Amino acid sequence: MTTTGLAALLLVALLPKAPAQTLRAAGDKHQLLMGTAAGYGSLNDTNYTTTLAREYSQLQPENDLKWGSVHPQQSTFNFTNGDGLQAFAAAHSMKMRGHTLVWYQGNPSWLTSGGFTPAQLSTILQTHISTVAGHYQGKIYAWDVVNEAIADAGGGVRSSIWYDSPGIGFAGQGTKYIEQAFRWARAADANALLFYNDYGIEVVNPKSTAVYNMVKDFKNRGVPIDGVGFQAHLPLSSLDLASFDTNLQRFTALGIQVQITEMDVKVPVDANGNATAADLTTEANVYRSVLNVCLKYPQFTAFQTWGFTDAHSWIPGSYPGYGAALPFDKNYQPKPCYWQIRDLLQNQAEVLPIAASSGQAARTVTDVSYSGGEGIVFDSVAVGNYLTFTVNLPEVRPYDVRLGVKKFVGRGICQLAVAAAGTTNYTNHGSPIDLFSAAASFEEIDVNTFTPGTAGDKLFRFTVTGKNAQSSDYSLAIDYIRLIPQ
Ligand code: XIL
Repeated sequence: MTTTGLAALLLVALLPKAPAQTLRAAGDKHQLLMGTAAGYGSLNDTNYTTTLAREYSQLQPENDLKWGSVHPQQSTFNFTNGDGLQAFAAAHSMKMRGHTLVWYQGNPSWLTSGGFTPAQLSTILQTHISTVAGHYQGKIYAWDVVNEAIADAGGGVRSSIWYDSPGIGFAGQGTKYIEQAFRWARAADANALLFYNDYGIEVVNPKSTAVYNMVKDFKNRGVPIDGVGFQAHLPLSSLDLASFDTNLQRFTALGIQVQITEMDVKVPVDANGNATAADLTTEANVYRSVLNVCLKYPQFTAFQTWGFTDAHSWIPGSYPGYGAALPFDKNYQPKPCYWQIRDLLQNQAEVLPIAASSGQAARTVTDVSYSGGEGIVFDSVAVGNYLTFTVNLPEVRPYDVRLGVKKFVGRGICQLAVAAAGTTNYTNHGSPIDLFSAAASFEEIDVNTFTPGTAGDKLFRFTVTGKNAQSSDYSLAIDYIRLIPQ
């Protein structure tokens, strides 16, 4: 008899049901744009362009549309780089996102040292917005109209040439100059989505509350704004995910889109720029857990990183001692965080059908703590009880098999075996798995690489082989199966 108070959680595998072998294909399954910042200067590197076009469905110029690049002299606009990136995006069916029309940084010296009056700055800014947004009308689907305008501490409006140094005429009037910029952007391109973009607003805090209040006010008064970009430049210590969730909830309730616009994760690196394997695993979990929260919201429309290869990232230069922040390494090889992002997108909400089980009834449960997916409780009662999942493997290739398990007292030992669907030719895979732990413990167990002989449905069977010496029953607590393509 099982110990019902210790009911085993069996969270179901999140596994590929259809081939989705790139980030962009995986994102397509969620109508989610997979974006990256990119630089025109890197388009001469075929490693760069091949990976960019293959993996991403959205491109945002990292620097090429900032004031200093696109508006180098008061009477000169230079669209060469932006147009080059736009042509690349169009050629590879990628959406283009614009960054950024109003920022306190990245401004050319003719502007910052020009000694302009507020009236002159107002004209300069309006001309800039109408010229740049006008140039890309129909080509850029969304703009970061205003970037980083809220102060870090206290949530006031950040001092900038546009606000109060000397400003465009609304110094001391809070978000009025931001409102003006959004109105000019709408006038310049009636169809582009208009975003406010900032860092440090992922969780509920005074800064994000200031942004929230601004957006709420704009929506109430009909000021054109369509979304908020959460930059998500994060450390390895990640975020308070519950607060991030609450924050997304309140922003999406305003009737706007939300996007992750600049995600990267700062990882400590050695003098050669290399991170430890343990830190790369932690990084992967940061990426996965952030995306996992976002996927709850239909208003979440793009997941973008600030670059895609560690060969081109602002982190080592801006944060000495840190690097390895992006999904691909310096040699354009996918890192653990790449697989975590792709895996989550490929598998989200795909509950593996249970083909057969024995022992007591398996129960589907929701809101399980570990994977965030749906789960199954399986209370086995004897050696030989088994639970079988049908798993569709889209490709013949090696997969690293990972089991998310919940260890606890009252757990048994099980053996994983795999057979082709329609057969009973089970082959043991990996060693017996002991799920005992005195205190509840969620772990991911690596069960060797598995290479199917053919693609298609496979049966993954967990057979109870014994009680643990300390346990009172045989229940299993397998949280999920994950197959990571190698
Ligand atoms: C950074 C670029 O990545 C660097 O190459 C550049 O030197 C400075 O700007 N928030 C933003 C981005 O909105 O525009 C910044 O990009 C990174 C922080």
